[in-house]
Amino acid sequence: MDDRTVILKYDGGELELPIVEGTEGGGGIDIGNLRAKTSLVALDYGFANTAGTMSGVSFVDGEAGELRYRGYSIEELAEKSTFLEVAYLLFYGELPTEAALESYTQNVTRHTLLNEEMKRLFDAFPKSAHPMAILASATNAMATFYPDFHNPTDPHAVEQSALRLIAKLPTVAAFAYKKSMGQPYMYPRNDLDYVSNFLHMMFALPVEDHEVDPVVAKALDVLLILHADHGQNCSTSTVRLAGSSQANLFTSVAAGMSALWGPLHGGANQRVVEMLHQIDEDGRDFEKYIKKAKDPNDPFRLWGFGHRVYKNYDPRARILKSFAYQVIDRVGVDDPLLDIAIKLEEAALSDDYFVERRLYPNVDFYSGLMFRALGFPVRMFTPLFAIGRLPGWVAQWREMTEDPETKIGRPRQIFTGHPARKVER
Ligand code: SDX
Repeated sequence: MDDRTVILKYDGGELELPIVEGTEGGGGIDIGNLRAKTSLVALDYGFANTAGTMSGVSFVDGEAGELRYRGYSIEELAEKSTFLEVAYLLFYGELPTEAALESYTQNVTRHTLLNEEMKRLFDAFPKSAHPMAILASATNAMATFYPDFHNPTDPHAVEQSALRLIAKLPTVAAFAYKKSMGQPYMYPRNDLDYVSNFLHMMFALPVEDHEVDPVVAKALDVLLILHADHGQNCSTSTVRLAGSSQANLFTSVAAGMSALWGPLHGGANQRVVEMLHQIDEDGRDFEKYIKKAKDPNDPFRLWGFGHRVYKNYDPRARILKSFAYQVIDRVGVDDPLLDIAIKLEEAALSDDYFVERRLYPNVDFYSGLMFRALGFPVRMFTPLFAIGRLPGWVAQWREMTEDPETKIGRPRQIFTGHPARKVER
């Protein structure tokens, strides 16, 4: 640990603050005793300059445009691994042996069924319900079926609740989709691998045979790997904050799902495809939409562009862009929106506004087009992001609960309201 320090000069004098170093990506100033020593707090809207924790789960290099899970690059994992193996890696910290992966896979497979009583939950929603509302509700409901797995200080309970979530979320998502289609639920099948099982539950019907296309299954597996974790993003920070009160893993993840739904975060993948449709229907006038995105008085943003951390091309978007053509070609879908996306990207990246602000395509810019090519409706895009991000959420929550430095999250504020006053009557 480096013993470098910084000196803070303030009205009351000087305060020496230690610098803490990580293994990569630079260090930070530990302000743990700032208020006690100076009566001052640090203000940082959106925590753009503030680390809330030390973490070893994933590393995001925003300048270089690199992402690594437990030290392994997403490029290598996307090529050589599977989503379930990556889920194991994120949670346990190391790639599994063949036997460990086999056992983990069998455990997940054996828990894909929902408790039959949970089916009534889906009936409580209107057919038009957005699936993210159902996912977050069903995830909270799972906590009521597994009261023995709530204790965050019990490693077995944490492992079992994580396993139930990884195993059942695809079933919940598929049931939510079937509900919206007015079709019967398709139960999971233990003879299918994780992703093929999800595709079967999504697109099979009880009245005919259904074969999962292995090309589609492989493409979705890669997509889920690319979404699996991403440092202290909005939804992960929400999972950690909820869990810091010792709330159980189910309800902490449900809170993260709610944060993910927002269009500035995981909800962007749905907005991107809606935006591309709008541009297509509006005569593909790219300059008009670039102008709208640049106009500070216009709420329109270029969905799928920009990132708090990546000030270079999001490596996930890079993989997805090259992958998109392959998948669309292999599944034989001729999607005009991909060409529109490519041309919109070219127009934006040749405009000073985007270049000066270092706004590049992020993971959501191409992911929606891929989900669409694989046959998913646009409202399922953010639930797919949630399925992909779940291993990261549970790994980060576990790291938080096991970190001896963890305290309940309770940020301070700078008060700007009325000073004390009396009710005059
Ligand atoms: C995800 O954090 C993560 O890791 C998230 C994620 C993950 O894996 O978990 O990577 C997933 O959420 C990706 C982001 C998906 N969201 C979008 O695509 C929505 C569109 N993007 C933006 O809203 C925005 O870029 C954010 C929310 C992603 C980042 O916002 P920041 O870091 O707070 O940046 P900002 O809003 O302060 O923008 C800086 C400037 C502003 O202009 P000025 O005030 O300097 O004039 O850039 C402009 C913004 O107006 N800007 C955009 C823009 N994004 C930023 N202008 C037009 N279109 C955009 N998309």
